[in-house]
Amino acid sequence: MQNHEKTTNAIVYAKSLSKDVKLFEITNPYIAQKGLPGQFVVIRHREEGERIPLTIADIDRTKGTITIIFQEVGKTTKDLGKLKEGDFLLDILGPLGVPTEIEKCGTVVCIGGGVGAAVIYPIAKALKSAENKVIAIIGARTKELVILENKFKEITDELYITTDDGSYGRKGFVSDELKRLINEGNKIDRIWAIGPVIMMKVISDLTKPYGIKTTVSLNPIMIDGTGMCGGCRVQIGTETKFACVDGPEFDGHAVDFDLLMKRLSTYTHECSLMEQGRIYPTRIKAGLINQTPTKTMISKSKDPLVTLH
Ligand code: NAD
Ligand code: FES
Repeated sequence: MQNHEKTTNAIVYAKSLSKDVKLFEITNPYIAQKGLPGQFVVIRHREEGERIPLTIADIDRTKGTITIIFQEVGKTTKDLGKLKEGDFLLDILGPLGVPTEIEKCGTVVCIGGGVGAAVIYPIAKALKSAENKVIAIIGARTKELVILENKFKEITDELYITTDDGSYGRKGFVSDELKRLINEGNKIDRIWAIGPVIMMKVISDLTKPYGIKTTVSLNPIMIDGTGMCGGCRVQIGTETKFACVDGPEFDGHAVDFDLLMKRLSTYTHECSLMEQGRIYPTRIKAGLINQTPTKTMISKSKDPLVTLH
């Protein structure tokens, strides 16, 4: 037991995938045993630190390790990125969220935008193991930001890469590549799309007229990650859902993306103050710029859904 405690949450492998994106492989036999594709963990790297929800990017059940991949976009993720092999995280809560429904559906297209490629990777891998034909499209702003290309090559039947500036792969957005596949008459049975909210919205709008079931993974503000605080509320059709316990995956054709984008932009000013050290950080979600609302922020907030619990 003592040995187990001594090694749990240790960073056994650390790597930079691109300028701002880091990969940590961390020992945690319990989560490695239980975790499934689509699930996430909430980590705290030090006592006063924020709690950060991060998707489990890979699992090695034999070694008892999980892999997380995060973008250094705010104070907490930048601090996290300074940790090295041999360092420990204070605590890891998980696995959380509903796992991806992995089944044989035929030809699936897995689309990862930017660091969203890390989130879609374990899903693509599991879909391949379930004997689907897996086509992946991963895109980034420029060549240096393309991540996990070789890992995707190992597990996909076809891999397409796009860059916004045309420095690698095809020039354009991931949605342009999907449009090409659809226009060429390729049979597509299901789509998973994960990345910036606008990307998931564009892809869901694109696939809706074709009736191609499209699953997206939502990244609203999360606080406790266990369904208690209501911070992660999202509108799915006529229902309000909690992304941390009902998701994070939802039917892209039913998501109110405009409301999600509005909520995500609510705290950008406060985040900038936090980076300047002028307010205390309580939470940043990797890949996002947001934080747990304080009483003052809530009282000034224009977001009708933000309340104190
Ligand atoms: P980015 O802004 O560089 O965009 C990545 C790619 O998304 C682009 O190269 C493009 O192919 C596509 N894209 C962007 N805008 C688009 C548009 N208007 N139409 C169609 N496609 C578009 O992304 P980044 O800087 O790597 O940031 C990653 C984003 O992923 C962050 O916004 C983060 O919030 C999000 N993210 C989401 C999850 C999740 O679970 N949904 C997890 C991690 C990160
Ligand atoms: Fe989902 Fe609190 S983060 S309810």
